[in-house]
Amino acid sequence: MANSQVTFIQSIYDERSENYDNSHHGALADAYIRTAEPLPGESVLDLACGTGLVSLLAEEKVGRSGYVVGIDISPDILPSGSEGFDLITCAAALVLLPDPDQAIRHWTTWLKPGGRLVTDVAAKDVHVPSRILRRISDKLGVSLQWDESWVQDEQSLGNLLGSAGLDVKTVFLTESFQERVYKLADAEEAFEKAVSSPMFGNFGNPAIRDEAKRLFVEKFAEEAGPSGVLIDEAKMYMAVARRPPCK
Ligand SMILES: C[S@@+](CC[C@H](N)C(=O)[O-])C[C@H]1O[C@@H](n2cnc3c(N)ncnc32)[C@H](O)[C@@H]1O
Repeated sequence: MANSQVTFIQSIYDERSENYDNSHHGALADAYIRTAEPLPGESVLDLACGTGLVSLLAEEKVGRSGYVVGIDISPDILPSGSEGFDLITCAAALVLLPDPDQAIRHWTTWLKPGGRLVTDVAAKDVHVPSRILRRISDKLGVSLQWDESWVQDEQSLGNLLGSAGLDVKTVFLTESFQERVYKLADAEEAFEKAVSSPMFGNFGNPAIRDEAKRLFVEKFAEEAGPSGVLIDEAKMYMAVARRPPCK
């Protein structure tokens, strides 16, 4: 991964770290544990573990006879030479990877035969500021700093896992872990908040900022229609897939 991409990702989460555990990610971590069902004695690898929300809950489930390894951006400590893991989780991070297909193929080699991978991506277009910024990006000549173009529906995630040689057990749309109501009167403020974060900072570049804000408010009004309201939901496509057992 290019250094600039690593720095970009680190800047997003450094900025969010203080409030991170109070966000919808706690509820998402609970959903991971319900879906993955870590068992006593299992070995778990939690990729892109962040503050460890999934890792810590998994640790409670696997108990003292199992173990959990959590890894975030730190390429030098990836596991090698072990017998593999019973369960790998990667929560709320797949879409940030420059080549998710290659990543999943790689992770598959870290699973025991029969071991399972649980991962997710945000459902298409559920995040309001991100959706609107993507829709005005061509006019502004900028783009989102990660590639979500491969995510169309649940099937996109299933296809990715299947093409890496995994048996896809289930892919589903989760409940919404957080809902936010955006009103047209607050659209300018929503734009300012979005571009003040590293994630969308490129839309706040002085050369395009005013035009970006104008287009943002215009698109917001168009989407909201007479109600003047847009609802933002934290919903994911979540999948469970298994490495086929050895024959
Ligand atoms: C939204 S957070 C999710 C954290 C955690 N999985 C959770 O559910 O709370 C995304 C995490 O992915 C990490 N990340 C992004 N790209 C990564 C990469 N290439 N390698 C390792 N970690 C990465 C970020 O540093 C960040 O901690």
